[in-house]
Amino acid sequence: MGLQNQDTIAWVGRRCYLRRLENHEGQHLAMTEKLIVLGLESSCDDTAAAVVQHTVGCDPEVLSSVVWGQTDLHAGFGGVVPEIAARAHAERLDICVEKALEQAGLLLGEVDAIAVTAGPGLIGGVMSGVMCAKGLCVGSGKPLVGVNHLAGHALTPRMTDAVGYPYLMLLVSGGHCQFLGVYGPDEFKRLGGTIDDAPGEAFDKTAKLLGLGYPGGPLVEQEAAKGDATRFKFPRPLLDRPGQDMSFSGLKTALRRARDLIIDEKGGIAIQDRADLCAGFQLAVAETLGEKTRRACEVFKQDVHTQKPVLAVAGGVAANTAVRKRLHKVAQETGFSFLAPPLKYCTDNAAMIAWAGLEQFRMGLQDDLTLSARPRWPLDQSAVPMLGSGKKGAKA
Ligand code: KG4
Ligand code: ZN
Repeated sequence: MGLQNQDTIAWVGRRCYLRRLENHEGQHLAMTEKLIVLGLESSCDDTAAAVVQHTVGCDPEVLSSVVWGQTDLHAGFGGVVPEIAARAHAERLDICVEKALEQAGLLLGEVDAIAVTAGPGLIGGVMSGVMCAKGLCVGSGKPLVGVNHLAGHALTPRMTDAVGYPYLMLLVSGGHCQFLGVYGPDEFKRLGGTIDDAPGEAFDKTAKLLGLGYPGGPLVEQEAAKGDATRFKFPRPLLDRPGQDMSFSGLKTALRRARDLIIDEKGGIAIQDRADLCAGFQLAVAETLGEKTRRACEVFKQDVHTQKPVLAVAGGVAANTAVRKRLHKVAQETGFSFLAPPLKYCTDNAAMIAWAGLEQFRMGLQDDLTLSARPRWPLDQSAVPMLGSGKKGAKA
């Protein structure tokens, strides 16, 4: 099931990264060669480095993937503290790179390019990664490839399952929620997304409101397993409106109200109340994502006319069994095959960045030392900014 050369060639003319250098000579060489790319990721609360290898016509190989999570540093605050994250990335990136090269059995001089997340994300962390990658490039003379973090998530199914273009991706994490038509390494079409919070953020806030720990998603899921999902009727936001856009901030408010009512009535929340609140909340998220995914599948099918279209998921919320089950069912009902990469590549990691960098480098795309860290970087630059994207424009 090796990846096909044509997959990447076909879309070269439609790329949208205007800032990139084009190296046509390099492009010709890169198409035929085995490529090894070192990737760096530091856009949120995971410091990561990885090495990925790919020869045209063969399956990609992750030679190493090192992830140094920061959950312990942020747990006491109930969310990621950007300054703490940035400092930890700066202290840990070189250690992760050293480990990733060692585990891959390679020296820095043996990789073909260095890929780094250049945005979107927490700016201090992204800057740490970009600075580290630039230093490595200057020291080794290797090419630099700046990767959009969302492209890393979106291209993961090609690394793990050799999925051919085009396919539909639902990216659903703590910071992001959007449907993407993936047409090439540098060709994405946003088919809808959240206009405010991401579902992971809503899971984390729910956990905080109910006195559970951080990150909240897995803890809310554990509680939900013991609860009655029908006791509280939470809203299914924006289902009454056409389109694939979503909203999760109202759900969080509804949960707070329900919690406060119980406290007013009984003076506190019992263990069963908490489980029922979690179950009701989780069902609302799963049903909302499910219905919006059904619509995205229909829109995508009209766009591509593929015999057997693929729906893939990525992001931490894709770890949630209720969400996964719902998406799987929707995929089956709409004639899609459903693909959820292994969890370690669904959540933040550097293998996905190395892989996205590798695919883009094969197309002849690379950056120079003017590459800057970008807190905001929409993948589909032609899409209308989301309602909640603020004065500075769309975040992602
Ligand atoms: O993709 P990820 O590791 O990091 C980014 O946000 O980029 O996703 C982390 C998010 C957190 O909000 C976490 O609470 C959520 O994914 N999450 C879950 C589950 N596991 C992680 N949400 C619901 N159910 C889970 N089992
Ligand atoms: Zn992510």
